[in-house]
Amino acid sequence: MSRLPLASRTTDLVGSVIDSSTSLLARQRHDIVRFAMGSPAAEAVPSQLLGHLAATELAAPDAYDYAATEGDPRLREALLAELDGTTDRTTPERLLITAGGMQGLDLAFKLFVDPGDLVVVESPTYTNGSATAMSYQAQLLEVPVDEEGMQVDRLEELVTHAGRAPKAIYAIPTFQNPSGASMSIERRRRLIELTRRWGSLLIDDDPYGRLRFAGTEVPSLHELADGDPLVLSVRTFSKIIGPGLRVGWIDADPALQQLLINAKQAMDTCTNMPLQRLVAAFLEGGHLRDHLTTQQAAYRERKLTMQAALEDWFGALARWTDPEGGFFLWVTFQESVDTEALFEQALADGVAFIPGNAFSPSKFFPNALRLCFASSTPDRIREGVARLRTAYDHLVGAV
Ligand SMILES: Cc1ncc(COP(=O)(O)O)c(C=O)c1O
Repeated sequence: MSRLPLASRTTDLVGSVIDSSTSLLARQRHDIVRFAMGSPAAEAVPSQLLGHLAATELAAPDAYDYAATEGDPRLREALLAELDGTTDRTTPERLLITAGGMQGLDLAFKLFVDPGDLVVVESPTYTNGSATAMSYQAQLLEVPVDEEGMQVDRLEELVTHAGRAPKAIYAIPTFQNPSGASMSIERRRRLIELTRRWGSLLIDDDPYGRLRFAGTEVPSLHELADGDPLVLSVRTFSKIIGPGLRVGWIDADPALQQLLINAKQAMDTCTNMPLQRLVAAFLEGGHLRDHLTTQQAAYRERKLTMQAALEDWFGALARWTDPEGGFFLWVTFQESVDTEALFEQALADGVAFIPGNAFSPSKFFPNALRLCFASSTPDRIREGVARLRTAYDHLVGAV
């Protein structure tokens, strides 16, 4: 590598422990309960219905053309109709179809972050989001999260201490990845106020908001900001239909539309056309809402099963969060446990999770781990948590 004329920004390309776990797990030959990736379970993806729709949609000759960069008109129209009446309601001039949520984040950071700019991220945060900011050579400021989401008072203190305003604030306000926490409405309002005071970009990344199975809905940052150009929202179909589709969208101030299109044209021209058509047909048929209702009930049961199993196996040893939706539980051990070492042991013992430090650029969470309850059936969840206890006992030398 030393003789290659690499760009200086490559030193800030950190990769993703989460994504790498997909290939690591694919190489394993023994049975593993998968609590690692944040994916819907295979049986939770409406693959039969999608296959049925694909037979027509993917047989259309124009399904293989380049799409308009801002998105295939059919999908745009179906999406606008779908969002109508939800907290993410929007208008055509604000909408850009993207290759999943990740491309939305990439475009946002690309347009707003220069090398050395301060970017606020939650702590813990979604690794790939912070990694994207780093790929544009941002300097990250981690702001702690509690059960009401990002601690906005701490944000103000930490920014004052940093002595300069953040260029961007990256927030995952609902059923946060990895903690499962949701930001209270007071904090959402205060966050928007601070954003305005500092003139920062607020990136509102909310892939899990429609997967609520308890509690009452809180308006999105998008809705509360009421068209403020400083708020850019990133959404995806990955968690509500299937991640392999790689279809999502950005909702941004109309003045940004052309720049976003230019940036996307210099990146991938347009989002995958056949899959845009497939998602359009799914939405047009009114299938998303029924699908969400089924998924919400299943995820509620899975979360409760995982919490009960944790109580059985780790009652006095750890504590965990209690999300009202989404995919994740965040587990923190009472005593010091190296969860990266536990990961190796757990893999050998047949269960996978993501160690806490993967969610903090400064590695503030050696003692924590993220479990995805969405991907496994209740029986497998019970089995996986029991295996996790076996791994824990092996690691601490109890057996
Ligand atoms: C908070 C958050 N943002 C964005 C993404 C990326 O979504 P996509 O798979 O659509 O790129 C994820 C996926 O795990 C996520 O959890």
